[in-house]
Amino acid sequence: MSQTLLSQVHWILKRTLQRLLTPRQYQLFELWRLKKRVQIDDKECFKQLSAEVVDEIKKTQEFSQKHLTGSIPTKRDAYRTYVGGDIGHTWMEMFTFELLLTHTSMERIIELGTWRGHFSTYLATWSYLNKMEFITVEKYAEVISPRALKLLNRMHATVIIEDIFSPWLIQKIGSIIQKPGITLLICDNGNKPRELALYAPYLKTGDLVMVDDWGTEALPEVVKPITEELNLIPYFEAVMELAPTGQRCFIRQ
Ligand SMILES: C[S@@+](CC[C@H](N)C(=O)[O-])C[C@H]1O[C@@H](n2cnc3c(N)ncnc32)[C@H](O)[C@@H]1O
Repeated sequence: MSQTLLSQVHWILKRTLQRLLTPRQYQLFELWRLKKRVQIDDKECFKQLSAEVVDEIKKTQEFSQKHLTGSIPTKRDAYRTYVGGDIGHTWMEMFTFELLLTHTSMERIIELGTWRGHFSTYLATWSYLNKMEFITVEKYAEVISPRALKLLNRMHATVIIEDIFSPWLIQKIGSIIQKPGITLLICDNGNKPRELALYAPYLKTGDLVMVDDWGTEALPEVVKPITEELNLIPYFEAVMELAPTGQRCFIRQ
């Protein structure tokens, strides 16, 4: 059976199950499916990723350090573009997003902090091609590139212009997270620990949350009490450390 046919069958099965089961039953089913994936997070992570992937990370890192340092002033010595548009992530971070998304099936991605919207077009493309939902939130409409916005609309992405700390938005996003299926929430705004504390309580078992600017703005000692209270455990940690990236991902247990 071809990959496309397989993914269509998989999608139809998923939709049918969602209709037949209650949200709670579906959540338990997703959790059961997750068991395999959760193992990827333990210290043995790289035994599960092929040696080729690890090698690729190292080569990209070496290349980035050797050739890109100084040519463009960035925090982590790597370019920050996607299809030529400026993004708030380095190539290494894009690489880990690609790995994370490839290794984890999910139903939707919610990005808090759109900025130019070029990175959003990457996430929206992923979502479009994999029949997922994509939502991005930005307070200042004028920072979003009109072209990126046009593309986002074409890919059926939802772009919300609102302050992420506004109570109605927290409730709205909370209710979207509560829908059946795994959500990846990306906290990439002005105050990551605050975003995490406000939005992560809505995460269901098996949902993921990614925190940007780890160690610089999202300080481990500030984030730890939140992750402990909400039972959020590190996910894909070894990949993010090795890459290295300024991100951390957690899975709700
Ligand atoms: C780091 S940038 C996002 C980068 C983007 N995710 C990317 O990868 O290219 C943070 C964005 O959050 C927006 N922002 C800051 N405070 C906000 C708030 N309270 N509500 C919504 N957006 C906010 C800023 O205007 C900025 O565009």
